[in-house]
Amino acid sequence: MFKLLDHPLITHKLTHMRKKETGTKDFRENLDEIAELMAYEVCRDLPVKPVEIETPVAPCTGYELSKEVVIVPILRAGIGLLDGIRRLVPTAKVGFIGMYRDEETLIPHEYFAKFPKNLEDAIVMVVDPMLATGGSAVDAISAVKSRGAKQIKLVCLVGAPEGVKAVTEAHPDVDVYLAALDDHLNEHGYIVPGLGDAGDRIFGTK
Ligand code: PRP
Ligand code: URA
Repeated sequence: MFKLLDHPLITHKLTHMRKKETGTKDFRENLDEIAELMAYEVCRDLPVKPVEIETPVAPCTGYELSKEVVIVPILRAGIGLLDGIRRLVPTAKVGFIGMYRDEETLIPHEYFAKFPKNLEDAIVMVVDPMLATGGSAVDAISAVKSRGAKQIKLVCLVGAPEGVKAVTEAHPDVDVYLAALDDHLNEHGYIVPGLGDAGDRIFGTK
């Protein structure tokens, strides 16, 4: 399943992030707000179970989330989406996977991985602002699958058609969510028009 979450509020905030004059503080704050808005939609099909409760007036059947949610940001830039999603799902556990893309070959390299237990039973959200060639996302999803994850959602802000194709071909069972599907990749593997290097803009490293 591929879903474009192009809500007007998301598009408005994303447009601000795309502008080259937007500084680190504004960039990070808008990303955080978009993450929360996206999480609302991404969580729409989370399973619930009935629970018997008593209100001050009467007993009734309520519904609670029935599965654990695990958020897995792809380091570094994925960290920019973490707090916004956690505000909506504060009980979520968090795993981390560190990936960097070789600037010449565009091949991703894993440098860190730490996950909570019981990924088998959880809804696992792999999150990263950028889906360019798709290499990082494909490998991060393989990494959580190799630890047992079965129900996986990939949540990205901006994607290129090449990245969507790579992920849906390698992992057809994974639900993919984007806030925007851009035009293409340039010769350096950057999304066009995109927003530049997400990690550098979040952390002020360039
Ligand atoms: C960026 C981005 C993704 C990846 C996308 O990370 O955050 O993880 O590139 O590119 P791909 O789809 O072609 O794999 P980068 O490797 O620049 O690391 P960073 O987050 O530490 O800046
Ligand atoms: N990574 C980014 O941060 N931006 C791109 O456009 C492509 C990969």
